[in-house]
Formats: sequence, C-alpha cells, structure tokens
Amino acid sequence: MIRSILLGTGSALPARAVPNAELAQTVDTSDEWIVERTGIRNRYIAADGETTATLATLAARAAIDAAGLEPGAIDLIILATATPDQTFPASATLVQAALGIDDCVAFDVAAVCSGFLYALTVADSMIRSGAASRALVIGSETFSRILDWEDRTTCVLFGDGAGAIILGGEESADDNPATARGILAAKLHADGRHNQLLYVDGGPSTTGTVGKLRMKGQEVFRHAVVNLASVLNEVMAIAGMSAQDIDWLVPHQANARILDATARKLKLSPDKVVVTVDRHANTSAASVPLALDVAVRDGRIKPGDLVVLEAMGGGFTWGACVLRI
Ligand code: UT7
Repeated sequence: MIRSILLGTGSALPARAVPNAELAQTVDTSDEWIVERTGIRNRYIAADGETTATLATLAARAAIDAAGLEPGAIDLIILATATPDQTFPASATLVQAALGIDDCVAFDVAAVCSGFLYALTVADSMIRSGAASRALVIGSETFSRILDWEDRTTCVLFGDGAGAIILGGEESADDNPATARGILAAKLHADGRHNQLLYVDGGPSTTGTVGKLRMKGQEVFRHAVVNLASVLNEVMAIAGMSAQDIDWLVPHQANARILDATARKLKLSPDKVVVTVDRHANTSAASVPLALDVAVRDGRIKPGDLVVLEAMGGGFTWGACVLRI
C-alpha cells in the first residue's frame, strides 16, 4: 500500500511580536487576565505587505528545504486558510507562483481552525489514491485583519503565522501500527448548526465586505473539550491504538485550559502535549503545523515517534490525525 510520510516541516511568523502588555495599552484588558484565562503571553501581527500568501511561502520554503527537495518536485499544494489574500484565486496558487512551480494541483481549503487537519486528510487521500506523490500542505492565516479591535473578548486571542509540511507517498508493506510510518488514521467532522457561535459577519455573497470575527467563547470552549476528546479516542481506535501509545499530542492552540482539559480527559501526561499558545496565541489553521515545526526543530519530536494532531474551530469543524514520524 502507499502511505503518506512526513518529509519535512517549516513555519514563518510576522516580524512584529505583540506581548499582552503592549495590547493592554490600546485594549481594555490586562496581561494577568489574558494569561490566567488563555495562557497567551504574546502574538505576532502581520505588517502591510506580510500576507497569508507571503507567510505561507516562507513556511513552504522551509519545509521544502527540510525535506531536501526542489520546489519542482511538488505536485500538490493545499493551503488551509480563512484569511486568503484575495477572494479568488486561491492563495495556494500565489504560493505556487512564488515558489516557481510551473504546474501542479493547487487549491485552498476553508475549515477555519480545523483547516490544516482537513487539508492534511485530503492530501493523504490524494497521495494514497495515486493522484499526487509530493504534497505541500500549509496552514496560514492573518486573523489580525478580521479582528474587531474594539472587542476585547476576541481580539486578544488571535495571532498571525504559517506552518507547512511536505508529505511524500511511499510504498509500505508494514501494516503493524506499532512500527508503520506515515499517516495511520485521520477523522474529520462538521456540525453546521453551530454557525452563530463562531463566525465572521461578512462575505462576498452577503455583505460584500470581509467582515469581523464574532465568537461566543464560553460555548465554543465547552464544545471544544467534548469534541476533541471524542475525536481523539475515535482516531486512536481507527489506528488500532490507545491514548497511552501517543508520544506527542500536537493540538490546535486556542487556549491552554482547553489543552489541559483535553489531556486530562485522555489521561495523557501534560509533558506529552506541545504547547505554543503562550508564544503564538491562536493562529487558526496555522497553529497545528506551527507547533509541529517548533517541536520537530527543537528536537522533541523524533523519527519513530507517534504524533497525534487535532483541531476544532468555526463551523463547527473538528478532526484528528495519527502520524508516525
Ligand atoms: O480556535 C477556535 C476555537 N476557539 C476557542 O476554542 C475559544 C474558546 N473559548 C475560550 O478560550 C474562552 O471562553 C475565552 C478565553 C474566550 C474567555 O474565557 P472565559 O473564562 O470563558 O471568560 P468569560 O467569557 O466568561 O469572561 C469572564 C469575564 C467577563 O466579565 P464579567 O462578565 O465576569 O464581568 C468578561 O467581560 O472576563 C471579561 N473579559 C475580559 N476581561 C479582560 C472578557 N475578555 C476580557 C479581556 N480582558 N480581554
């Protein structure tokens, strides 16, 4: 069978870091409140000229280098984003052009904070079906552009950034989950009834404007803890393993309290959870590949490790993926 193997990771952040104290100069909030309620200490905010596509391109180059490939080897680009550079064409095609790739498949996926899990699952399916062999999967966002900076209940929570991975199709005869490399299981969900709990109040077909992010935080929080624990158990069962087999959980970085609650529900040691929400805040579709790249580059995630990725966001959408490095 063909499996999708992780060949490399990369990430990129805007130049400007904005610690809580700086935000508190213009927003009615405090470092104490933000740290206590969310674990966030800092976020990065894109300047004019730093866009979803430029950040995605930087992350993509780093991932392609880490994989030891030339850009021309990429035959599929999927970019997960809710903040594209243009309404159309897909920002993935901007990345393709910036990388100098003449011909490949390139499109965006819109599943907000779960976007990277959706993009990864589609890329894995295309690789296993033979439709692609070297996939660049990116999560990139500039949420600072869709925040209402007058709304302290949301604007302190998000940041900008990008993360990318390269997946390569490889023949494998190993069907033992304890040793097989690559993507071993993935599971996605959506429940569109919850639109009004987390959405943007604009769009091309309704208001003709971009709109601003609106969220009922407490209700999203409650759904997140339940849905994430459930999909994690589900995906581990599909892979033929249990939570105790996980070496590293790389979760969507929305709130440190959600990460703690999810780990507790799975009876997983907090030492096995990669946490970057303190440094990056919630970067939506970028948060999982950003955190993955951080933990690969600092040497925590090593070849042979069993890594589980998960995310939940607007829609609602949520999902998880089991991957041996
Ligand atoms: O990525 C997509 C998924 N998104 C999420 O997972 C987000 C999930 N939700 C959360 O992370 C949390 O619900 C929040 C961080 C958004 C809010 O935390 P909370 O503990 O649920 O706080 P709260 O909304 O109940 O607000 C508590 C108080 C309120 O004041 P009163 O009504 O008790 O007087 C708020 O007005 O905190 C106040 N407050 C703030 N105070 C200072 C809300 N935002 C702020 C702020 N600074 N930025």
